[in-house]
Amino acid sequence: MRFSIDLIEWYNLNKRELPWRNTKDPYTIWLSEIILQQTRVDQGLAYFHKFIDNYPTVEHLSKAPEDEVLKYWQGLGYYSRARNLHFTSKHIVSHYNGVFPNKYKDILSLKGVGEYTAAAISSFSFNQPHPVIDGNVYRVLSRVYGIKEAIDSTIGKKTFKSIAAELIDKKNPSIYNQAIMEFGALQCTPKNPNCEICPFKLECYALKNNQINTLPVKEKRIKQKNRYFNYLIIKNNKSIYLNQRVDNDIWKGLYDFPLIESEIEISKESDLKKILSPPNLTIENRSKPIKHILSHQKIYATFWTISDKISKDLIEKAIKINLKEINNYPVPKLIENYIKSML
Ligand code: ADE
Repeated sequence: MRFSIDLIEWYNLNKRELPWRNTKDPYTIWLSEIILQQTRVDQGLAYFHKFIDNYPTVEHLSKAPEDEVLKYWQGLGYYSRARNLHFTSKHIVSHYNGVFPNKYKDILSLKGVGEYTAAAISSFSFNQPHPVIDGNVYRVLSRVYGIKEAIDSTIGKKTFKSIAAELIDKKNPSIYNQAIMEFGALQCTPKNPNCEICPFKLECYALKNNQINTLPVKEKRIKQKNRYFNYLIIKNNKSIYLNQRVDNDIWKGLYDFPLIESEIEISKESDLKKILSPPNLTIENRSKPIKHILSHQKIYATFWTISDKISKDLIEKAIKINLKEINNYPVPKLIENYIKSML
């Protein structure tokens, strides 16, 4: 099978025009790849433009306040990616004089850059033959070649890596890598791929053996943890308390409201009051529990509007802000939605 030749031919006929494909600038490519790990191309485009317009070079990004970077990232989730992006921009300015490193090993050692991103940058920017392996690539290779090892097992990863290294077009690694990802995104889709028009329809193992829906194989199911968040909305017409999340937990660096996390869902006012001090404060309003699903956690959040003075230690770390300025703060989607309903 002339896999890489046919793949590149397909790509030249079917590719989308995307802004990060018209450049070799490693900063632009790095930025786009980090965003695209978090979202699909259609949503990613708006974020990409927002970042490139505001931070056209690595130096611009390095000089930005972290709050601002998080604000631009708002809605994408997995905020450590944004913090690492910011951290690494400062590192490139201080250690590499603002010039993006071009050796695979140096690129891989950057914070927030794993094998996938290092392969993407080194091939797209510097035309080095490192194969990208992402979800698209696992799907295409497992189906076309009938690889049944689990993509999340050590042995599976090794198998895919060696096949990918053999298949990559050593003369055109950049186009090959773009092509295989584009092929996974547009043609060899997770559900209902249109195999009738596929260039590999005569050879594809999965199509011949009716295994389109069983390949690729995944071993582990992600265990989901339930968490119960009780948010305290302490506000008047002019001000509200916010809390910046500083611990190594979800949403580090973002803002939310003063929070009491409980082991079980608290549904009665009297139960919340038992935890709060003074217990005789007045609860004005309580939202229904709102389910918010993350990759490893399910959050059940209840928003309690509280009027009375409240124990200092609960809001000790909170900041009182002008209600009008609330939209300047980077917040998780769950909080963004609540703010929209509140204003
Ligand atoms: N998904 C991840 N990287 C991509 C790229 N460079 N082009 C299109 N989709 C992608």
